[in-house]
Amino acid sequence: MTIVVVHRSVCSQSSDAYPDTVSTPEAARRGKPIVGVDSSAEMLRLCRERAEVAGIADRLTLIQADFRDFRLSEPAQLITIPFHTIGHLVTLDDKQAGLRHIYTQLAPGGRLIFDHFVFDPEAARRHSAVSLRAEYSDAATGHDVLLRVTNRYDFEAQTIRIIAWTDELDDDGVLIRRQYRRLSFSWLEPDQTRALLEETGFEVEALYGDFDRRLFDEESPEQVWVARRPDVA
Ligand SMILES: C[S@@+](CC[C@H](N)C(=O)[O-])C[C@H]1O[C@@H](n2cnc3c(N)ncnc32)[C@H](O)[C@@H]1O
Repeated sequence: MTIVVVHRSVCSQSSDAYPDTVSTPEAARRGKPIVGVDSSAEMLRLCRERAEVAGIADRLTLIQADFRDFRLSEPAQLITIPFHTIGHLVTLDDKQAGLRHIYTQLAPGGRLIFDHFVFDPEAARRHSAVSLRAEYSDAATGHDVLLRVTNRYDFEAQTIRIIAWTDELDDDGVLIRRQYRRLSFSWLEPDQTRALLEETGFEVEALYGDFDRRLFDEESPEQVWVARRPDVA
């Protein structure tokens, strides 16, 4: 699930993923209600499946909605946006709308925690080349499949167009079928992230540079933000 909403505080315990939190399954095991928000029915189905395996499905509510307009039945103490997901809100306006909406769904004093990669222009130039990412046998057809990916960067707009395609081959290596998948993504510089949070009304409590709580510096690969909706608006 992409937005994890925990009612009542689970903060002050350690987590394998985020500082100052317990993991989602652990929060649910401690009796905290969890809400997952995703626009994709398929991702929510997978989430439900995994929650059942983890034995926490009875504490889970799933909402199929956009991050910019989901509605909780009560304000949350903690909302997380894991796995660089904020980059799916492609423009600055989209991100601002997402943060503003999340703010409205938090209780006063509630926290927003999310991670975002640190953009590396050199790595981006390397990823612009078409690369063969995988060669595997399709379990359903038995055919060999090649997966290729290329990323097209717009450095000014801070957007990435990810284009991936699979080539399905017959026993002689002749192409039977090619399927493309395309996705728009984006990035934020740390100063922009801070400005967006502060413009929204959040207080920034911490910026970590990785998931082990080391503080953010110029070498950091990640931006892990801990922000708080003030107690009094
Ligand atoms: C990087 S994946 C996160 C992986 C997975 N949801 C998880 O938490 O394990 C990003 C997810 O964001 C969802 N998503 C993208 N844009 C969204 C939006 N505007 N509103 C809600 N969900 C969105 C996608 O469907 C996808 O499941």
